[in-house]
Amino acid sequence: MIRVIAIRCGFVAALALSVLILFSTSAVSFGAPRTPQAADSSKTWVAPDPATIPAGPLGDSIRLGIQVFNETPKYAERYVGNKLSCTHCHIDGGTVSKGMPMVGLPGIFPMYRDREKSVITFEERIQQCFQRSETGHRLPNDGPEMTGLVAYAQWLSKDQVTGRPFPGRGLVELPELNGDAAKGSEIYTEQCAVCHGADGAGKLPVAPALWGPNSYSDGAGMNQIAKMAAFVQHNMPQNQPDSLTPQEAYDVATYIHSKPHTVFVMKDHM
Ligand code: HEC
Ligand code: HEC
Repeated sequence: MIRVIAIRCGFVAALALSVLILFSTSAVSFGAPRTPQAADSSKTWVAPDPATIPAGPLGDSIRLGIQVFNETPKYAERYVGNKLSCTHCHIDGGTVSKGMPMVGLPGIFPMYRDREKSVITFEERIQQCFQRSETGHRLPNDGPEMTGLVAYAQWLSKDQVTGRPFPGRGLVELPELNGDAAKGSEIYTEQCAVCHGADGAGKLPVAPALWGPNSYSDGAGMNQIAKMAAFVQHNMPQNQPDSLTPQEAYDVATYIHSKPHTVFVMKDHM
């Protein structure tokens, strides 16, 4: 949580890169025990204290869910095709407003989705990220990995009001702009390559891949320029989020979009 509070509030200028890298390699960085709050403001929300994870099989399932979320290629190996973990996109274990949080999601599914033109369950939404964002495969809905992920999201949401979306859910949209890939290339070299590599292949455990075989597929939400721009604007550069203008976020997203991504063919991901 130190990282959430320090970085997301923007007091990071003084923090050395090495410190950031240290935090970035840790799993969900829960801080000292605090009182969980029902969130009406995402800024004051703190993740539940890990001490509230129950003992016994349910607690074991939640803990497995945390492991799957933070180290997906290791703990859900059979269902993942690249080197991305959920937490690489769903920031800090899915606990950060505007960083696609998991908080509150179990209480708002099933929901209607335009892409599928049907009502889908929470599990089905997770399957889609396995197929498209993890370039992997569907996993059994009643298997330990899926059950753990749902149990974890449920535990994160235990003080939320059912049916009410968490503030800063999903990607907070930016105005629609046209990105310039050439300008994006300069921004990338100056502000992103230090962590993600000039070749976009990432430098784990410092930072994940942005293109190439170890990144998301071209069927993933992150492959849409507007979505990536919104993600980047609020979450990147990791050591200085909210520092790019919306136009710069579009430029760099357009540049990354122009790079090769695994081609998504649904039948290969069932
Ligand atoms: C490459 C980045 C990426 C990775 C990796 C990824 N996701 Fe996602 N996920 C997204 C994007 C983008 C969205 C769409 C958010 C939006 O449109 O608001 C999303 C949406 C979701 C949603 C729906 C969120 C909502 O507010 O409705 C769930 C649930 C989800 N992902 C779970 C997971 C899980 C679990 C994993 C790991 C197995 C995972 N995702 C891995 C990028 C990713
Ligand atoms: C200080 C290191 C650092 C810098 C600089 C940085 N990132 Fe990241 N980036 C990360 C880390 C670490 C993650 C994984 C999520 C997290 O822990 O914050 C990440 C995740 C991402 C993701 C989602 C995961 C994926 O692989 O697709 C995107 C997209 C991204 N960064 C884009 C950028 C862009 C664009 C810039 C430059 C404007 C940038 N990053 C600068 C460290 C960095």
